[in-house]
Amino acid sequence: MAKPTDQITIALSKGRILKETLPLFAAAGIEPLEDIHRSRKLIFETTRPDVRFIHIRATDVPTYVEYGVADLGVAGKDVLMEHGADEMYELLDLDIARCRLMTARLVDAEPVLGRMKVATKFVNVAKRYFAEQGRQVDVIKLYGGMELAPIMKLADCIVDIVDTGNTLKANGLMAEEHIADISSRLVASRLALKLKDERLNPIVEDLSRAVAERRKARA
Ligand code: ATP
Ligand code: PRP
Repeated sequence: MAKPTDQITIALSKGRILKETLPLFAAAGIEPLEDIHRSRKLIFETTRPDVRFIHIRATDVPTYVEYGVADLGVAGKDVLMEHGADEMYELLDLDIARCRLMTARLVDAEPVLGRMKVATKFVNVAKRYFAEQGRQVDVIKLYGGMELAPIMKLADCIVDIVDTGNTLKANGLMAEEHIADISSRLVASRLALKLKDERLNPIVEDLSRAVAERRKARA
């Protein structure tokens, strides 16, 4: 078996993305030796002795990749936009977990007088978005359930993920401004591309083929 330091470490996001990520890696010949969904472990050996997965929170993936501790990572574009992606390269759009990042407000919202209050977990994205438009806002950090903020008058609007729109509708909100189209991306650390480029390339190519085949099958 390869020594841990020789191994290629791939950071996988826990939660919603994982179920769609694993079949893409399986098509590239990389499968965990244990069921990640059922295990409390954080490191998983794979069918390729030189490749291991780490299973971490989506928002932690860019950090592991940025420090070069993980060579590759899978994370939503929303998470990458929020974190900033200076020390990493986006290699591939995996075309999974597609959704939009949008502003939303109460359907019957009153016009906002003065500075608008924006609740979101995407604080950096929101600040950038409104600043680019020359709009002055106060951004309030939340960790989930953003839709509640306008109802409770904590904020005038939110910046959040919208997929079906069901969550907004169920809470009397409507999407307003489109900020970005989101899907999950394969990222690589700058260090890994320097040191392990030749070993990473075939994995990226196999994943790219798997993404294309999945797209064809769904068309
Ligand atoms: P963390 O646990 O680190 O806070 P999270 O709770 O945002 O992360 P998930 O809910 O599993 O993590 O979402 C992971 C990714 O899936 C998001 O970053 C986004 O790219 C995408 N996503 C989130 N909500 C949806 C949705 N409703 N439909 C489709 N994709 C979504
Ligand atoms: C995400 C997002 C929205 C919802 C959008 O929430 O934050 O609330 O999905 O999906 P929809 O448009 O299909 O309804 P998640 O379930 O991740 O919970 P969260 O509020 O903790 O982020």
